[in-house]
Amino acid sequence: MGGPLDNSDKIRELEEELRHTLKKSEKKIAQFTTLTELSTVLNSTLDQEEVRERAMQAATRLMNCEVSSLLLLDNDSHELYFEVALGDKGEKVKEIRLQVGEGIAGWVAKHGEPLLIADVVNDERHFRKADEKSKFVTRDMLCVPLKVKNKVIGVLEAINKLEGEVFNDEDLELFILLANQVAIAVDNARLYKELRETFLQTAEALADAIEKRDPYTGGHTKRVVRYSTAISEYIGIDPSEKESLKISAILHDIGKIGIEDIVLRKPSRLSKEEFEEMKKHPVLGHEIMGKILQLRDVIPGMRYHHERCDGKGYPDGLTCDEIPLIARIIAVADAFDAMTTDRPYRKGLDMDTAVEELERCSGKQFDEHIVRAFVRAYREGHIFNG
Ligand SMILES: [Fe+2]
Ligand SMILES: [Fe+2]
Repeated sequence: MGGPLDNSDKIRELEEELRHTLKKSEKKIAQFTTLTELSTVLNSTLDQEEVRERAMQAATRLMNCEVSSLLLLDNDSHELYFEVALGDKGEKVKEIRLQVGEGIAGWVAKHGEPLLIADVVNDERHFRKADEKSKFVTRDMLCVPLKVKNKVIGVLEAINKLEGEVFNDEDLELFILLANQVAIAVDNARLYKELRETFLQTAEALADAIEKRDPYTGGHTKRVVRYSTAISEYIGIDPSEKESLKISAILHDIGKIGIEDIVLRKPSRLSKEEFEEMKKHPVLGHEIMGKILQLRDVIPGMRYHHERCDGKGYPDGLTCDEIPLIARIIAVADAFDAMTTDRPYRKGLDMDTAVEELERCSGKQFDEHIVRAFVRAYREGHIFNG
């Protein structure tokens, strides 16, 4: 028939359609905003554990699901392992390992393809042991590979969509975008860790080279590192400073590289002139390592570990509040080791006597606060020779 009534029906229909499209777009925009936020959070740390935990949280929040899992590929054993799993049953999922090719995650890792499975229980790839172990019921799942330069490094899973819904293709699309971000963040954290380990090993090798020249202080560096670390457990020190302390303790005597053999290897007590020569090593260490920009937080331990609280130390005669914390820590650790090791011309003190000596010099040569921390560490069995 046609007429005004039909037209208004059509308009209503169009309005309805428009409202629906608008709602969908709003939802999409909200999802992408969340994705951007989560990616920023994900990439704002280089700590491996933190990255992994944030990846789980991001997946659970973005996909509005019950639980998420991040499985990483162990290249040596060719297995996937659950690094973290959030949610109520998370704790139990932690220990599961899967062969590549085994289970849904194993399939994804093997083929490098994403999967959306609406009915997990009836999927023949489902690895039941994981559910049995965790008493978890997996209903539906998104499972996508984490790839870096086309190589699979792990798998990200979103399990059981909430509010009675089931995952759809749009969810999968969004999840793949998140997985790309997670892959980059996980790989960056791994590279950073490797870089730090390589650096520490290089520093240790350098310190070892110095020790090989000086036959009387075998193992000195390792002990100073150990004592310094023990002290740091008993004082308020933030993790990055702790890391600097360790590197600084490893390298504290690196300047001895510039001390002549006749002084460094002398089997008897040093003469006044020889001692003056030996006293150059903190400044030499600073000069050698000071050129490396990344070591700027580490240098104070090298330059100032022979300073004294009463200002009678060297090379700069600083007083307690002028000496950087890591140098005050290394000073105590270094002196304790010097006292307790034998030299060709004198026998080392036993540990109890050396501790008494530290306490006697506390406030004069050493920072009282650091000596107190050392003594506590000693009494609680964290300082030992060997
Ligand atoms: Fe030294
Ligand atoms: Fe030393």
